[in-house]
Amino acid sequence: MTSLCTILFTLPLLFVCCSARRTYLFPSIEHKTPKQPLQTSRPYNLAHRGSNGEFPEETAAAYLRSIKEGADFIETDILSSKDGVLICHHDVILDATTDIVEHQEFADRKRTYEVQGRNVTGFFIVDFTWKELQTLRAKQRFSFRDQQYNGKFPIITFEEYISIALNASRVVGIYPEIKDPIFINKHVKWPNGKKFEDVFVDTLKNYGYSGSYLSKDWLKQPCFIQSFAPSSLVCLSNKTDLPKIFLIGDTAWRTEDTNQTYLEVTSDAYFDYIKKYAVGIGPGKDTVVPAVNNHLQPPSDLVARAHAHDLQVHPYTFRNEYQYIHFDFHQDPYIEFDFWINKMGKDGLFTDFTGSLHDFQEWTSPLSPGMVKKP
Ligand SMILES: *[C@@H]1O[C@H](CO)[C@@H](O)[C@H](O)[C@H]1NC(C)=O
Ligand SMILES: *[C@@H]1O[C@H](CO)[C@@H](O)[C@H](O)[C@H]1NC(C)=O
Ligand SMILES: *[C@@H]1O[C@H](CO)[C@@H](O)[C@H](O)[C@H]1NC(C)=O
Ligand SMILES: *[C@@H]1O[C@H](CO)[C@@H](O)[C@H](O)[C@H]1NC(C)=O
Repeated sequence: MTSLCTILFTLPLLFVCCSARRTYLFPSIEHKTPKQPLQTSRPYNLAHRGSNGEFPEETAAAYLRSIKEGADFIETDILSSKDGVLICHHDVILDATTDIVEHQEFADRKRTYEVQGRNVTGFFIVDFTWKELQTLRAKQRFSFRDQQYNGKFPIITFEEYISIALNASRVVGIYPEIKDPIFINKHVKWPNGKKFEDVFVDTLKNYGYSGSYLSKDWLKQPCFIQSFAPSSLVCLSNKTDLPKIFLIGDTAWRTEDTNQTYLEVTSDAYFDYIKKYAVGIGPGKDTVVPAVNNHLQPPSDLVARAHAHDLQVHPYTFRNEYQYIHFDFHQDPYIEFDFWINKMGKDGLFTDFTGSLHDFQEWTSPLSPGMVKKP
């Protein structure tokens, strides 16, 4: 009887609750001068590899879609071709996200190299010229995501990615990761003894990216630089005052360049040290709040301590599929967003589903009432 009453009472409540969850218009695509500025009043929507929940990751299509869906920043990984052209690609090998195996002309390029202390076998980007890379087409990494765009889009360069952000009708930031710098500097040589870090910063400077966090220049062309390699970030901090985010792997992880443990690089002493050259950290969400058998455990003190050191926290990666959403969230990405934004107090979230995070934020902390669709 009690349970029947409960059901009868909660049904209308559920209905009210669910009908309140409306969809929202994506930001205007009209070109206005000046451009609509970057929002800074709520946690950043960081489009992880573009809207790669929909399109193959790090392609122009994925980035354009995420801008349309409300990204504050588009995120990418920067690697280099054999001839020193900086490109957007996550893995050092091409196997999982391109059609390389269908290219018989490259069949003899398969190699094994040591990458961050382990042997990796595949078709390495550093063994292909930019001209050769242009003949490949991207494919979706995950078999459970839409495959219809496989073979349709090329790999893009760092410069093309920057142009996509600069060409947006509102201010959209960039969030490039300098990827595997030890490996790249070992395999790719630039003229005049330049290092990967030099070419990376030169590219940003050529396109006008400069200024410390929230400075006037920065707000015009916002950019966060991210890296898992602490010495690369220190090196970059000598070349540009753009804000830097130090990425942190799981608790069993060691830094690729300084061989420090997770405990060492998340200590109070280390936070004091990185504060001098970074504005924040980017930890995996499961290292901040561990899960056992798919159930959340009490949060670690990482966020509280980072905030106590004035460091922002941008956790990765928010994905809508059930295998990434712990049971505590009842298979609902909105409940997960609510937990991380309102209970854990995050400053930015890396998500594969820009549109979902945008919808959640417009629902709970709208930027402009005008953007709400009439029900
Ligand atoms: C990688 O393979 C080489 C050649 O087989 C071997 O000598 C080396 O120890 C391996 N490195 C690692 C980290 O397994
Ligand atoms: C720039 O944006 C315009 C209008 O949205 C679009 O037609 C054009 O293709 C874009 N160019 C680049 C380089 O992204
Ligand atoms: C940063 O620049 C200073 C002064 O030019 C130099 O002494 C120092 O070695 C540089 N540090 C790094 C990590 O490049
Ligand atoms: C990193 O440090 C551990 C512990 O001191 C050591 O066993 C390991 O060999 C080191 N790895 C590298 C690549 O230096």
